[in-house]
Amino acid sequence: MEEKKIAGIKATEYIENNMIIGLGTGSTAYYMIEKVGELTKLGLNIKAVTTSQGTADLAAKFMIPLISIDEVDSIDLVIDGVDEIDGQFNAIKGGGGALFREKMVANIAKKVIWIMDSSKLVDSIGGFPLPIEILSYGYSHILKELEFLSLHPVLRMRGGVPFVTDNHNYIVDLHIGKSFDIKYVSEKLMTISGVLETGLFLNMCDLIIVGTGYEAKVTENKGR
Ligand code: A5P
Repeated sequence: MEEKKIAGIKATEYIENNMIIGLGTGSTAYYMIEKVGELTKLGLNIKAVTTSQGTADLAAKFMIPLISIDEVDSIDLVIDGVDEIDGQFNAIKGGGGALFREKMVANIAKKVIWIMDSSKLVDSIGGFPLPIEILSYGYSHILKELEFLSLHPVLRMRGGVPFVTDNHNYIVDLHIGKSFDIKYVSEKLMTISGVLETGLFLNMCDLIIVGTGYEAKVTENKGR
């Protein structure tokens, strides 16, 4: 079985009856959502908050009961994918452009599980371009500021026009490269007017599940 599928299915073992579940976004999350659909069909009683319109559409297809983020006080468990993660559980997320909602959902979750294939484990993050969500208004000036900070910004495009997020904003991918000062960059970015959120998810998970070969390797984050 594919590594992503192994990890996605394994994560559903942590779901309990009557939980509010945060459903992540991406190809690994797909397998988890498919399995949650199967379980709800068999009688599992949960409600789900989604991290993107794509995930909401998928969950609806699998008849998973949905609830809006504003209707819940907290989320019992969120299961989501990552683009890169280091040994200190610092991750880059947002390859699919859903980082803003993914971070909001993770911020109100009691437990966070990240699922992935083995290629996502790295010594240091930054090889994968760091996505940030920015306002479309004045985007050219935001890009100039990012350029000035030597963060090598590239406005994400789709079909010849800027990629637009579910929140009607733009995504900029920062080609910073490895060995950057994660904390400094994370804090600096949030001081720029028009930068709404970054894809840096620093030590925000409780557990990672990595699909390797024929099994799922579960690692607890003891530093949280
Ligand atoms: C979506 O914006 C991302 O954060 C995804 O969770 C991340 O890109 C992982 O995607 P895959 O599971 O498709 O690799």
